[in-house]
Amino acid sequence: MLHDQSHHPLAGKFIVFDGVDGCGKTTQLLEFEKHLHAQGLETKRIREPGSTPIGEEIRKILLTKRGEGLHIRAEMLLYMASRAQLVFEEIRPALAAGITVLADRYTSSTLAYQGAGGGLPADEIRAVAGVATENLWPDLTIILDISIASARRRTTKKGNLHQIGLFQDRIEQRAALYHQRVRDDFVSQCSQFPQRYRLISAVGSPAVIHKRICTATDKFFRRRK
Ligand code: TMP
Repeated sequence: MLHDQSHHPLAGKFIVFDGVDGCGKTTQLLEFEKHLHAQGLETKRIREPGSTPIGEEIRKILLTKRGEGLHIRAEMLLYMASRAQLVFEEIRPALAAGITVLADRYTSSTLAYQGAGGGLPADEIRAVAGVATENLWPDLTIILDISIASARRRTTKKGNLHQIGLFQDRIEQRAALYHQRVRDDFVSQCSQFPQRYRLISAVGSPAVIHKRICTATDKFFRRRK
């Protein structure tokens, strides 16, 4: 029988895993979820864009050839539309029920990709995010940091269908400079908002990175109990 975990410092918290393509965030999110389950916590795992029927339709527009010709502002608004649906259909109800929400990307990605990468002002993106989510900001955003060269090597090596698909999507086809701007922005979000972000090195074995995430998260939420 599960024990009552409503007083656990991570119960009902909203935690985002983010970083450049190939940083390993999805693997780490799954490991972290297991770590929380071992403590008896209930979790909800989501990925962006997507995770609702409407969001998955929007994902198809954004990450396939169907999205060719999208203006950067339309692109940003589609990510936000998917997010709005997800927040009201899944995230808010889960948090209200004391469930820990683990998200694979959130507004931090829009700031990095459509902001730093695509040239939209961060203030405008934050304003739209506030409207789309009714100001739902994560308790903690974990940025997994790795060089673009290593991330790319990692993604190519995996070679599974999901990763090949990603390499074919529009975003993966953009230039290395773009990815560098994206990485730099993720790092700079961490220094801009130290009270809500943690920067974790994604260099090393998955087990070592997992340990780093657990240590950082324990410290982060212990202080906020
Ligand atoms: P992923 O499934 O590996 O996370 O890939 C999703 C892609 O979508 C990734 O290349 C980053 C991109 N993306 C944005 O450009 N803006 C956003 O707001 C989000 C959530 C994702």
